[in-house]
Amino acid sequence: MTTNHRIALIPGDGIGAEVLPPAQQVLDVLGRRHGFSLSYTSYDWSCERYLREGAMMPADGIDQLREADAILLGAVGYPGVPDHVSLWGLLIPIRRSFRQYVNLRPIRVFEGIDSPVRGARPGEVDVVVVRENMEGEYSEVGGRLNSGFPDEIAVQEAVFTRAGVTRLLDYAFTLASQRGGRLTSATKSNGIIHTMPFWDQLVTERAASFPQVAWDQEHIDALAAKFVLEPARFDVVVASNLFGDILSDLAAAVAGSIGIAPAANLNPERDFPSMFEPVHGSAPDIAGQGIANPLGAIWSAAMMLDHLGHPAAARDITDAIAAVLAKTDVRTRDLGGTATTAEFTDKLIELL
Ligand code: NAI
Ligand code: MG
Repeated sequence: MTTNHRIALIPGDGIGAEVLPPAQQVLDVLGRRHGFSLSYTSYDWSCERYLREGAMMPADGIDQLREADAILLGAVGYPGVPDHVSLWGLLIPIRRSFRQYVNLRPIRVFEGIDSPVRGARPGEVDVVVVRENMEGEYSEVGGRLNSGFPDEIAVQEAVFTRAGVTRLLDYAFTLASQRGGRLTSATKSNGIIHTMPFWDQLVTERAASFPQVAWDQEHIDALAAKFVLEPARFDVVVASNLFGDILSDLAAAVAGSIGIAPAANLNPERDFPSMFEPVHGSAPDIAGQGIANPLGAIWSAAMMLDHLGHPAAARDITDAIAAVLAKTDVRTRDLGGTATTAEFTDKLIELL
């Protein structure tokens, strides 16, 4: 009997809806080859829905997703809808309700890609950013006072909990022990004197349980510079919500295009569905033209297969991504080519 996985699809806005069908095409090829099937339920939750109905998703949206085995999301964001509405009306409720406390963002410089960074040679850069995804700087604790008066103020509290940081570190150290055995912790304990020394302390505590991992820590500003100057130095990088967000976009740019970068929002305990999405947004500047790079969504689908217990199928996908970039000159515009999303996808499937 073949295993069936129930996938909730949220295409979202702009190119989100253009990159998910290629990901589905690839998934279906692999299901046939590796003996599993996927059934999809599609949700039209988006900024366009917000403009029509006043909410990104229905009030019982989270409950509708609960029974899914995984969620595959395109991107949300639409001119005229403030970005905090799209983020806090859909993505953040999903991440938090489903306890997706790990945001995993792998970055590779593939053969055949011209990185804007001279030192980023293909094959040498292979990094995973493990970003905290539920607390830290992106907290709801705070408020505004005295709106419109000269003494108007805004306060935003960063929240770091022992439980929240520890479970993330355990995930990151475990991953490092399965990969190259190296881990770098992003900190800023020179300037941020409460939360970041606490973060450093917890890193030291957890490191004691992973003697096989060689670890160090870098202040985030210096780390950003080193990501540009010597990106091949890094293997697993663990970071808070804000630092991990910035660092992984920087790393995606080092890898040649934000259109390639994938992300997984994981609930490692599997009590709830995890969510997989490209790092890029809805790209209103190119939406509707059929020229979006589908690799970020396709690689995110590979991460989903890995999570669902099909690592060999996931590897087939990353191998095909590497092959299409190394062995052909078919590329979308963001990578310097002229191919459409559909042509790029067809070529990749040919090599799958
Ligand atoms: P963006 O990632 O949408 O676009 C940045 C630049 O990269 C644009 O020039 C775009 O054309 C290009 N680009 C992005 N993905 C591409 C792809 N797959 N193929 C080819 N080119 C690609 O980021 P931006 O412009 O800051 O945000 C646009 C909207 O997307 C905003 O409303 C923002 O809030 C939203 N957004 C949503 C995210 C999500 O749903 N997770 C993440 C980031 C932004
Ligand atoms: Mg980001």
